[in-house]
Amino acid sequence: MENILLNKKDGYAIVTINRPKALNALNSATLLEIQEVVKDIEKDENIKAVILTGSGEKAFVAGADISEMADLNTVEAYEFGKRGQETFSLIENSKKFYIAAVNGFALGGGCEISLSCDMRLASNNAKFGIPEVTLGVIPGFGGTQRLPKIVGLGRAKEMLATGNMIEAEKAERWGLVNDVYTQEDLLDEAEKIAKKVAKNSSYAISGGLEAMNQATQIKLEDGLELEALVFAKAFSYPDQEEGMKAFLEKRQAKFK
Ligand code: CAA
Repeated sequence: MENILLNKKDGYAIVTINRPKALNALNSATLLEIQEVVKDIEKDENIKAVILTGSGEKAFVAGADISEMADLNTVEAYEFGKRGQETFSLIENSKKFYIAAVNGFALGGGCEISLSCDMRLASNNAKFGIPEVTLGVIPGFGGTQRLPKIVGLGRAKEMLATGNMIEAEKAERWGLVNDVYTQEDLLDEAEKIAKKVAKNSSYAISGGLEAMNQATQIKLEDGLELEALVFAKAFSYPDQEEGMKAFLEKRQAKFK
């Protein structure tokens, strides 16, 4: 692959978007490569967590590629938007736990790909924004739908209409990122979380994520029913037997 680096480790993977000269901007080729990598990881039973980050020290991802978008007509723009949306939905609906390690600018499509991850960590130089209005367009890779669910409607609309960037510290206050670290420590801290996740039950992680993803989409009673079903199904997997037996035997569970 030209624009993505994939580093599979024990139990987790690190995916790096690697177009540093364009601040890791997402062109069509990169979106397709991300799809390929996400699908590959999905099939890999040894991987339970994925860290998504950007190359270099300046940007996580500076957005969709403006040079590719500049000459699109409406039909092409629809297709480009759909491609980005589909790519990010693969991440959001994945059975693996995605951690965005935001190491610099996360603008437009860069902010949006981080929103499709299960959690976000940031370096203290990170800046988040959806500056599309300054280009005469709107966020087209899921930002109008996912950002309000994470930071609330008022804050999301402020970011949309002003195009302002928000610093890592404010992003943390707004609940957009879970924690902020120095750039030097960011990846190590993300790896600590990935390693912890990798020790837990695959079924329980993916089942819990599936149920939580529905929390803001469906009625409470339907969500509770889904939770009951996923909970019950866990009892048909060996992980439940091992997890509970290990607790009772006062030892660490060993999940396959
Ligand atoms: N697309 C294409 N190229 C980009 C890019 C993008 N989104 N962002 C940066 N680049 C390129 C620049 O054109 C420049 O290339 P050259 O060296 O060949 O000129 C290189 O990356 C370095 O960028 P700058 O010289 O601009 O660096 P800077 O430090 O002066 O500024 C920045 C950094 C503030 C992030 C600035 O690059 C910037 O504002 N980038 C665009 C951010 C943006 O508007 N993102 C939203 C895109 S639209 C979108 O994402 C739509 C959607 O939802 C689908």
